[in-house]
Amino acid sequence: VASKKRPSVIWLHFQECTGCTESLLRAEHPTLERLILDVISLDYHETLFAAAGHQVEQARKTAMTENRGAYLLVVEGAIPTRDGGIYCKVGGQTAIELTKECAADAAAVIAIGSCASWGGMPSTAPNPTGSSGVADVLGKPVATIPGCPPNPYNFLATVVHFLTFGALPPLDDLGRPKFAYSRLIHENCERRAHFDAGRFAMQFGDEGHRKGYCLYKLGCKGPETYANCPTVLFGDAGAGTWPVGCGHPCIGCTEQGVGFGKPQGVGF
Ligand code: SF4
Ligand code: SF4
Ligand code: F3S
Repeated sequence: VASKKRPSVIWLHFQECTGCTESLLRAEHPTLERLILDVISLDYHETLFAAAGHQVEQARKTAMTENRGAYLLVVEGAIPTRDGGIYCKVGGQTAIELTKECAADAAAVIAIGSCASWGGMPSTAPNPTGSSGVADVLGKPVATIPGCPPNPYNFLATVVHFLTFGALPPLDDLGRPKFAYSRLIHENCERRAHFDAGRFAMQFGDEGHRKGYCLYKLGCKGPETYANCPTVLFGDAGAGTWPVGCGHPCIGCTEQGVGFGKPQGVGF
């Protein structure tokens, strides 16, 4: 087992803030170091690579050739589709070209974050660059881990499932792993008893807010957002919390058409 080759992972960055990678950097079980030194072979990642330029582009091409049909492709960031995709280029290639080239021989494709899943923040109206998600560009479903940023454990659990069983976990019709996105935030929220009893914060800092009442009247999107934020939390298990736990309403960052970005049903 010790000598078994670690599976190759190629990670592309496009229109994004790098918050998805930042979120993963803060995972504790496993840590990112453990993941990339012991579990996978991270063969291309612009943020984490020390090298740059032609060296890293060559590393990507070598990894794709040596692991044809077996590597995992992860895409972070939306893909601009307007004007031939000229608004995002890496190494002289557009994001559209890179996505198609790298996906062609990948064993599986994972779109991490809301940007890569459906356009996310960059696709907000008027969406001047035509930002879109990976599935739209490839014209076929991919696994999606939406969230802005997404919970790193939803991504890590998906990768570990792929490494263990050689297949992605069961996905819903938006490509989201069912283990993480099948329940409404509202179902597991720690403030739910206040909602049921009609106790609401009416403005930030008022008595109801200080007492931890329900944030629905401050715009909470928990009743229409599917994600496991209240049960998995962000950060390590001891100190972990989540937006509503901190006193901020859920903005529906995992849901196209609820929080931000282009509405549902809008493709390119
Ligand atoms: Fe940043 Fe959010 Fe896009 Fe991730 S999904 S790259 S956190 S804007
Ligand atoms: Fe539902 Fe939001 Fe209220 Fe929690 S804070 S109970 S998710 S409306
Ligand atoms: Fe996003 Fe709402 Fe969870 S804003 S992080 S889906 S609580």
